[in-house]
Amino acid sequence: MSAGVSTTEREVALPVAELPPGTSTTVKAFGTTVAIFNVEGQLFALSNHCPHHGGPLCHGRISGTALPSRPYEYRYGREGRVLTCPWHGWEFDIESGRTIFDPSVRVKTYEARIEEGEIMLTRQRTEPR
Ligand code: FES
Repeated sequence: MSAGVSTTEREVALPVAELPPGTSTTVKAFGTTVAIFNVEGQLFALSNHCPHHGGPLCHGRISGTALPSRPYEYRYGREGRVLTCPWHGWEFDIESGRTIFDPSVRVKTYEARIEEGEIMLTRQRTEPR
């Protein structure tokens, strides 16, 4: 089976000055709505549509989550790396887009970086041959 042809696409999202640390926004890019988060100066971009029922991930809370632990023990971690959907509480790793409860379920992510004062989004696509 062929792996297909991989292409890279880039789009300017918005000026970085419009997304200060601790904020999020949405932009139209790649024919869809992309949520962009500035978490203490680090940018993360994901599809704005939760794979459960389409909740707007741009309105999600960013926090940590409960870590695996022994009975009667509570461990909290990954602060600033877990995005919780505002509708029903699914939790996502904000960097990979994978859900915490089942990493095989994920939301599309995009690379977000700053270039000349603009937030630039990049996506990788693989087309079948
Ligand atoms: S729509 Fe996101 S958890 Fe249900």
